[in-house]
Order: sequence, then C-alpha cells, then structure tokens
Amino acid sequence: MNTIVLHIKDDQQHKYYQEAAKKLLDGGLVAFPTETVYGIGANALVPEVVKKIYAAKGRPSDNPLIVHIGNANELEKYVSEIPEHAYPLMDAFWPGALTMIFKKNDCIPDLITGGLKTVAIRVPSHPVARKIIETSGLPIAAPSANISGKPSPTTAKHVIEDLSGRVDMIVDGGDANIGLESTVLDLTGERPMILRPGGVTKAMIEAVIGPIDVDAHMLSLEKKEVPKSPGMKYRHYAPKGHLKVFSGHSDHVIQHINKLVQEAKEAKLITGVIATQEEAHLYDADHIRVIGSMKKPEEIAANLFKVLRDMDDLGVEAIFSTSFDETDIGVATMNRLLKASGNQKIEIGD
Ligand code: TXA
Ligand code: MG
Repeated sequence: MNTIVLHIKDDQQHKYYQEAAKKLLDGGLVAFPTETVYGIGANALVPEVVKKIYAAKGRPSDNPLIVHIGNANELEKYVSEIPEHAYPLMDAFWPGALTMIFKKNDCIPDLITGGLKTVAIRVPSHPVARKIIETSGLPIAAPSANISGKPSPTTAKHVIEDLSGRVDMIVDGGDANIGLESTVLDLTGERPMILRPGGVTKAMIEAVIGPIDVDAHMLSLEKKEVPKSPGMKYRHYAPKGHLKVFSGHSDHVIQHINKLVQEAKEAKLITGVIATQEEAHLYDADHIRVIGSMKKPEEIAANLFKVLRDMDDLGVEAIFSTSFDETDIGVATMNRLLKASGNQKIEIGD
C-alpha cells in the first residue's frame, strides 16, 4: 500500500482536512495527531473497515477501540444510557484527554468493542484531529498509531516508522503534546472507575464528581488478575532492549544502576540510562537520555515514549531507568514505564 504523508501547513490546511476526510469516507485508514498520542483513524460504523485497523497494527481483536467524536452532542447516537455523572465530566474535560465508557447501542459494531456491551468514547481537543473528524462527519475509531506492543507514537516520524505501507494516509500535525494516552474511565459500574491513568488525573475527576475507584489491576499488575480494560493485559509500550526500572533512595539507585551498567558493558551489551535532567550527569552508560526535569512531571510524561523509541534507534540492549514522581500525570508515566519493562520494578533498599 502506498501511504500518502500530508504535512499540515497554514496555507493549505483546509485542503488537507478535506483529503483526509475523503479517505475516511472511502473506508481508508488515516493516522493523525491528537493531544495525547497519534491515532490510526477509520470509520467506526463499518466492520470491514474496522477490521483493517487491527490488521495494520497487528492487534488482537479482543482489545476494543476508542470511538472519537467531534462534540459531546453526538454521544447519544452511540450509547444506550448516559449516567448523570457523565454530564459534568463532559463539561469539565471534553474536548480533551478523558475517554469514558458507556453502554453501547446497536449501531456500534461488536468488532469495535471486542464483543463487550460497552463502548469507549472521547472528544479529542487537538485542532487537527477535530477538523478531520468534523469534516468527515463520522465517528472515528482510533487506537494509538503504533505497531501493537511498541511505544505509542508522539510524533509523525514515529508513525511513519511503524505504519508506512500499512495505512492510506499519515497527517503530520506536529508533536502530540501530552505524550501519554487518555485516561479511561468506566461509567457503567456502580461507581466510576479509572481503568487506565492518563493526563486527566483521579484528583481532577474527583474534584468534579466526588470519590471514584481505580482498577486494582492497574496498580498491582498481578498477572493472575483480569483487568477490566482488555488492553491492559498485553505487554505494551515496550522497547526492543531489555528495560529495568529501579526505585528507592536516589543515591542508592544511581549507584546500583551504575554497577549494573558496568556488568552489562562487560557482557558486551550496549547500555542506556533514562535519567532526569538533574541526575543525568551522575550516570556512566553508552547512551544517557534525559527525559525531563524532576520538577516538571508533564515534561517527563511527554518525553517517555520518545525516549523509549530513541533507545531502539540507538540499538541499546540493556536499558535502566529510575522511577519518577507519582503525583498528577506521574501516575500515568509510571504505569506506562512499568508496563514497558514487563513490570520489572526493582526496589533498592537502604
Ligand atoms: O489517547 C488515546 O486514548 C489514544 C488516542 C489516539 O486517542 N488512543 C488510544 O487507543 O490509546 P488504544 O486503542 O491504544 O487504547 C484504548 C484502551 C485500551 O486499553 C482498551 O482496552 C480500552 O481503551 N478500552 C476500549 N474500549 C473499552 C471498553 N469498552 N471497556 C474497557 N476498556 C476499553
Ligand atoms: Mg495503544
């Protein structure tokens, strides 16, 4: 398949949105930026088209997709029930990085939901995503635009690397600014529950609707538990190199990582360390990547997937990372980092 790449430039924006929308209306796959990560979009209402998304990503079809709509007024077309809590949440966070799960109605194909009776919906805020969705007039199914298992793409370059030849069009609209996928909130149970942490934090949601739950699997990541969000059971976000994450007193963590780097070098492995701006100079590895400042959790979140992909590009075989502060979006950063490591968090004692 020949993939068309469109670079959004100011003078031709309108034409590009028309072209992207036309591809979607013709049943094509179009990758575009959102404020969280890039997505692969397709018409959510046609099963044969949705099938192509799973094929392009190499994704198991029991892992459901998020339906992206142009504005909150369209929600009622696709769900059979809108719980009271949903209204203040839509007012507060749509358009934006909150996906909400509702009971689906019959126009949503089972292929979208992996056979579940519920459907995940969000209104993205990125102007390019919004324009494309609005111009097409369609509900757009859009998983992250990576090959299944790889870190989600935050730049058009990442998408081109993964999906050239696999999708009809890639729209380059610059970097995705949040850098981690949306928060997934299930509204179909007794109490709203976060199934995947993201830029809209638990505290932000609770400030609007009061106490909510968090899927225990998201925190404990015990293999025997079955997560409510099917996507959370797969190894995700993983670089090719072997990644280990360490937590504990920072002096001890740095010392321990430097020791392991030394051992890995002796074993002739290419080594890499993911470090904060403040600590990067304390490490000694073949490649050291600064993820951001300790004082800026949103910067660390925005750079995580890029840094993991950089490690692949550099051919790093043994990757070591410290843990990052788990306030605000830091919860989501650590959730993705740990999943990328296959849940290999190692506590360094005092
Ligand atoms: O930020 C995002 O959400 C990005 C951008 C492109 O919008 N999209 C994204 O999609 O991350 P994807 O397909 O990579 O992740 C969707 C997640 C998966 O973990 C999936 O299991 C969960 O949402 N999900 C979707 N529908 C669900 C449902 N009905 N019940 C439970 N979890 C659901
Ligand atoms: Mg994904």
